Amino acid sequence: MPKFENPTGFLGKILARGMAWGHRDFYKSSAKALDLKEDDRYLEIGFGSGLFINKYASHVSRIAGLDCSKDMVELASDINKKHVASGRAEFKQGYASSLPWGDNEFSVVAAIETFYFWPEPEVSLKEAFRVIMPGGRLVLEMAYNNDDGIDHAKHIRKMNLKLYGGEDMKEMLASAGFCDVTIEYYKGFWIPFKGHVVPKGMIAKGFKRAG
Ligand SMILES: C[S@@+](CC[C@H](N)C(=O)[O-])C[C@H]1O[C@@H](n2cnc3c(N)ncnc32)[C@H](O)[C@@H]1O
Repeated sequence: MPKFENPTGFLGKILARGMAWGHRDFYKSSAKALDLKEDDRYLEIGFGSGLFINKYASHVSRIAGLDCSKDMVELASDINKKHVASGRAEFKQGYASSLPWGDNEFSVVAAIETFYFWPEPEVSLKEAFRVIMPGGRLVLEMAYNNDDGIDHAKHIRKMNLKLYGGEDMKEMLASAGFCDVTIEYYKGFWIPFKGHVVPKGMIAKGFKRAG
């Protein structure tokens, strides 16, 4: 069976497209928090199908993506082939804990429905901080979190999740160097996978101090 934390193969590609549909409201909340402009240089970690990029990030000046699944790299490159062909988009395989880009390269880094899979969250946040330019921002969206009031024991067991609350995120982002950290919640809903209820999704946002 393909896994949410690392979708692979033909079934993984189908799962990733299905996930994008199931995540459509998470995407809307993420897009609002990201507020992407034409001059943004955007990096998305754990992009999965790449459908978020296609719908909400295709107007920015530079698109980059990193995902640990090589099949997701293939799928997202195909879905965004127009932008790859023009040289504006690149998709790479790798892990959030070691970003294959230089310091200060991006104005925005995003991670949608993936942070809770990362085995080294603190190292990964420091990496995100490193590649963000002064004044740039980080947006992390997590539909499941420790503030949503539901029992995630089954999800933790089945999907090997590490769940966080708003206070955990504030602390982690601050110790990675981010300032003006805010935590927002959006109204959740039911998604069409057995037993998946999302009452209160969370978005953590932080900035790299300008200058
Ligand atoms: C649940 S999917 C979400 C995909 C997409 N963001 C969306 O919302 O449709 C999680 C994605 O994160 C990727 N991923 C998980 N752990 C990762 C890590 N440590 N570094 C990079 N990518 C990771 C997986 O391969 C997968 O594509």
